[in-house]
Amino acid sequence: MVVHRRAYSAAQIYAHWAGAALVAALFATAWVREGVEDTALRRLLLDWHRLVGLVLMALSLVRLGLRLARPAPPPLPGMPVWQHRLAGLVHGGLYLLLFLQPASGWLLASARGRALDLFGWLPLPALMAKNAERAEWLGLAHASLSWALLALVALHAGAALAHAVVLKDGTLDRMRPPGRGFSRPSTVPES
Ligand code: HEM
Ligand code: HEM
Repeated sequence: MVVHRRAYSAAQIYAHWAGAALVAALFATAWVREGVEDTALRRLLLDWHRLVGLVLMALSLVRLGLRLARPAPPPLPGMPVWQHRLAGLVHGGLYLLLFLQPASGWLLASARGRALDLFGWLPLPALMAKNAERAEWLGLAHASLSWALLALVALHAGAALAHAVVLKDGTLDRMRPPGRGFSRPSTVPES
């Protein structure tokens, strides 16, 4: 009997929700900053934005490692093939943007001549020399990628909620932290 896991591992689940919280914090810091006039607060929000973005990049690397070590669980029985394929494409797109978006931010900071570090003790190299022209189009790229990420997240979260509320299948349960008072079978026999 081959045993297939029906859910993601606890590490994958906690990393997923930590990543989602960091993405929310990134949009919050960027958008709140736009309405702030105080220079010191604007600088602080951008410092936090950069730090959170770099932490997200590191977390996404860990997630990718976890994902390569343990593939996604097989589709729920009865799920149409097109839905499973579309979900796979959206997940792939999300992973891609979870790297491209922070990478464009890092490039943008470098082109603006801003030295980066992690928590003040791990200096990060500049990815390019200071260059105002490049900084301008990298700013555009960073903003455009953020809209693409937002669109994919909306599609993804909307689909997850539709599965939970309309279809009432176990899709959302696959990403629920374990031990939350509902049954989440970890294995299913394959015929
Ligand atoms: C998933 C990760 C990230 C998301 C979702 C994100 C999102 C955003 C958004 C929505 C903006 C405002 C864009 C606009 O409309 O002009 C922005 C601006 C910016 N971000 Fe990010 N960002 C991320 C990661 C990073 C990282 C890692 C860095 C640098 C290390 C960074 C540096 C910047 C800078 C320098 C700006 C421009 C702020 C300004 O207007 O002066 N971002 N980001
Ligand atoms: C910034 C926000 C989010 C990002 C970047 C994100 C990203 C991802 C990625 C990359 C996967 C694939 C996991 C893998 O195969 O390793 C995934 C799975 C999943 N996500 Fe999200 N997610 C976000 C928010 C949400 C929200 C808000 C919900 C629920 C409303 C949600 C529900 C799920 C579910 C249920 C799965 C598992 C789908 C399956 O059974 O294969 N996600 N997410």
